[in-house]
Amino acid sequence: MNLIDGEKLTLGTCYYPEHWPETMWEEDLRRMLENGIEVIRIAEFAWNKVEPTEGTFTFDFFDRFLDVAEKMGMKVIFCTPTATPPAWLTEKYPEVLNARIDGVIYRHGGRRHYNYNSPVYQEKAALITERFAEHFAHRPCIIGWQIDNEINCETDVFYSQSDDKAFRAFVKEKYGTLHALNDAWGTVFWNQTYSDWSEIHIPRPTVNNVNIHLLLDYTRFVSHSARGFVKLQSDILRRYLKPGDFITTNGIFSNVDNHAMNAESLDFMMYDSYPNFANMTGGTPDPRSLRDRNWSRHLAEVRSISPIFGIMEQQSGANGQTHSGMAPTPKPGQITLWTMQSVAHGADYVSYFRWRTCTFGTEIYWHGILDYSSRDNRRLREVKEIHKKFQSLKPVAGAHYEAKVAVIKDFDNIWNAQEDVWHRTIEAVSSQGIYAAAQHAHTPVDFVYLTDELPAPDLSRYSVIFYPHPMLASKTRADLLQRYVENGGTLVFGCRSGIKDLNGRCVMDLLPGVFRELTGADVPEYTPVGPEDKHIVVDWEGEKLKVTVFSDELDAIGEQAEVLGWYENCYYAGTPGLLVNRVGKGSVYSFGTTFPEETAAVFLRRLGVAEPYRNVVEVPECCEIAVREKDGHRFYFVLNYSAEPAEIVLGEAKTDLYTGETVQGRVQVEPYGTRVYG
Ligand code: GAL
Repeated sequence: MNLIDGEKLTLGTCYYPEHWPETMWEEDLRRMLENGIEVIRIAEFAWNKVEPTEGTFTFDFFDRFLDVAEKMGMKVIFCTPTATPPAWLTEKYPEVLNARIDGVIYRHGGRRHYNYNSPVYQEKAALITERFAEHFAHRPCIIGWQIDNEINCETDVFYSQSDDKAFRAFVKEKYGTLHALNDAWGTVFWNQTYSDWSEIHIPRPTVNNVNIHLLLDYTRFVSHSARGFVKLQSDILRRYLKPGDFITTNGIFSNVDNHAMNAESLDFMMYDSYPNFANMTGGTPDPRSLRDRNWSRHLAEVRSISPIFGIMEQQSGANGQTHSGMAPTPKPGQITLWTMQSVAHGADYVSYFRWRTCTFGTEIYWHGILDYSSRDNRRLREVKEIHKKFQSLKPVAGAHYEAKVAVIKDFDNIWNAQEDVWHRTIEAVSSQGIYAAAQHAHTPVDFVYLTDELPAPDLSRYSVIFYPHPMLASKTRADLLQRYVENGGTLVFGCRSGIKDLNGRCVMDLLPGVFRELTGADVPEYTPVGPEDKHIVVDWEGEKLKVTVFSDELDAIGEQAEVLGWYENCYYAGTPGLLVNRVGKGSVYSFGTTFPEETAAVFLRRLGVAEPYRNVVEVPECCEIAVREKDGHRFYFVLNYSAEPAEIVLGEAKTDLYTGETVQGRVQVEPYGTRVYG
């Protein structure tokens, strides 16, 4: 059974047979099936159930469970258990443990306390993966495998001795000579020059900061290590998989190139979606902030890896662990809303975390569908209703999310921004601003990643692309963008573009560096915007765009470059702040500052890409519109995130997929309500 075969939408849940008396298994599976749950994920933290002491393997526990699953007709996603190494292992081989930057070792008792580079851990992880695979993979109920659990969750930095050693090998392989490494890292600054490979270490506590170029390579190294660990397991699993079974992993976390990881090790990506993180008690949310709707942004990230994907863990209850976090139970309709949010963005499989809330351990407050008593409840009834909806949504399966606007991303810039405060500050404004503006203007957006390890993405399907602040850039990337624009695309850059090379060293070329020809722009001067400079704007034909965080003063130098907007209310008033350059059949806009929401909204409108589906379905701001398309047929998802009813207007007669009725004109969508029209 392939979960993303384009034939159907499927519901699942996460189940922990090791948390319950065996006498409950059959009844649990029966109730799941009765309520439309056809797939369960198991075993991701259950190493001890198979290898209780070193080298002793006992498969009876899961054999018994899989017998029950097979008897009941339940499908299973089986996991490798490497996210939680057993106590016997970490006690005997403490070198498998991860450490803090100051060298203090993380001990047994939490999870994800291992490091990817320990040869002992690699050997033990490979062995348990092999044992799991050779014993269980043939079972008919198993349909696929999850590797580990949430790669780089809990922590995305690794400072064990094995990491130290592996980092040295990584940079040696990358640079070949110390001379090249010293040059790339600019080690002549503050006398950091290395004269022997043994002097090179992963980041360690320093007075002041760790060298930023070293940090960039360190993050690349963490990504490389995580990917290697996943590949180690996937290569083993592939040898045992039944035909048609898949390999995946769950969640998207930082410091790992998930795109490359997926390409080399997985069949598709799964995501863990907890929109109620947005409703944790504590902060006073800004009423216009996206809150749970911001999860659409995360789902767009997943989609950039796998256009059709799965949700391995979808929120189904209140959140909280014993020591942190407290967020409400989903209100009536919200489980459906968040499920449909996932489906709208490309999920054909949605699995709830978890079947029943655990009665012990740190996650007693992280609720599943059922509470501790197992009684039937409102949440289970809602899941059953979702299953009914999934039946009528079959035609949506395999349809691709449709967007005409994209935001380009790349890991060099993402990882540089983590360490470079100027970069981080401008990027934070623009990435949230562009996404929020697009959401509020009902304009679907894709994220497109440029990664040197994968073939260049096809940009031609987008009419407008934002590449807000590519501070790190290369000629290859500039050429790719040049071709996109020449063929008719519209590209929008913000401030600071092209100021660094891929090692994070500032270029000595005139700015914007490798983008100079493409933009037809020059940047004679630039400045961060101080707190006293609150009133600076760029005037774009009468619209005043607020200047926040940073200003590049611009100049049009290309023959086809034209000034569209000028700075006001500052010492550089009258200097260009917005240019357009005509290149081939397309245009490149250079904007001298950042894109907060109001500014991004102006760009979307003026570039003619806002509200593309307005004539089909018009919705108030509180609703998201997402469209999936297959064989020329479009499915329109309307998601009402608000506690109030929303009135929408269908400009054309459409079929309501939930009811099969044909509708046109005004429709009331209830609080947290959803509709799918086809
Ligand atoms: C996920 C994780 C699950 C569970 C859940 C709720 O991140 O994969 O194992 O911990 O969060 O906290």
